Amino acid sequence: MSKLKRFLPLILIFGSLLTLLGIKKIKEANQPKLPIVGILQPLSHPALDEIHRGIVAGLASEGYHNNRNIKIDFQNAQNDQSNLRLMSNQFVTEKAKVTVGIATPAAQSLANATKQLPIILGAVTDPASANLVKNNAQPGSNITGVSDQAPIQKQLALMQTIMPQLKTVGILYSSSDNSATSQMHLFKQLAEQKGLTVVEASLSSVNDLEQVSQNLVPKVDAIYVPTDNTIASAMGTLVHVTDKTKTPVFPSAETMVKDGGLATVGLSQYDLGVETGKMTAAVLSGRSKPATTPIRYLRKGHLVLNLKKAKALHITIPQSLMQIANQKGAVLK
Ligand code: TRP
Repeated sequence: MSKLKRFLPLILIFGSLLTLLGIKKIKEANQPKLPIVGILQPLSHPALDEIHRGIVAGLASEGYHNNRNIKIDFQNAQNDQSNLRLMSNQFVTEKAKVTVGIATPAAQSLANATKQLPIILGAVTDPASANLVKNNAQPGSNITGVSDQAPIQKQLALMQTIMPQLKTVGILYSSSDNSATSQMHLFKQLAEQKGLTVVEASLSSVNDLEQVSQNLVPKVDAIYVPTDNTIASAMGTLVHVTDKTKTPVFPSAETMVKDGGLATVGLSQYDLGVETGKMTAAVLSGRSKPATTPIRYLRKGHLVLNLKKAKALHITIPQSLMQIANQKGAVLK
């Protein structure tokens, strides 16, 4: 009897804990399931990570918050093709309400997995040439989204302003990256129109990057790099080579300037994400349908200069550019 008395408080506490747990379980089971937003990223590099952050913020700005009224299932394939396939199929199995493909490889994987679920493109440069939509102005199926097509004309003008003696420019790109090849073609055409000589150098994987850039540097005055996922994830390797010969690298994305490029007129990667998040929200709410929603473009590029790099390369940034950059607060020191 006294033993029971001694344990009674413990038994009571234990008992009520079990009851509470039981109630919680019942509550969870009765709660309506939150609609799933599946976000797929093919690999990590600073630009794609920024875009992902922007998407979550864009959804929130439209009233969609993770674990409150949506469930965000975010997957990163860590640069592995079979991961991409598995993760895309997982979104289909769990009946995601909307899916988001960050960059072309994720978008293509999602497009292979489903013709029904809406797919919102997060910074896919040219959806039509990547066979994701019939027409960028009239997608026509379950896919629409945001393009990160950069202001290439302005990027070229910037190169010529910083390097008035520029004659030969190399373009470094991955042959299997649709985003990179589509920009490469545009850039080449424009550069040749301006009387520049263009030397193309393509890589088939990140393992080629060092060798291909080593072969390229003696032939060119500067190197242009499009929004290439492989190179964006290995800027250190490229810059290690180009620093030795003091060859300036002009990338297409601001994040790649921070990673050792010299300058660009680029789109905000974060803003691209925010726009993608907003388009995702519009489809989630039923306000818009991918088939009839044109691909959206961000036109506002801003000047980004890497002054530390300019100094190391013994390049003087013209005063006129410094003034513009200072006004916009976009100078990197
Ligand atoms: N446009 C790329 C694609 O379609 C993705 C991307 C967005 C990117 N921003 C970038 C790649 C910056 C390199 C650097 O796949």
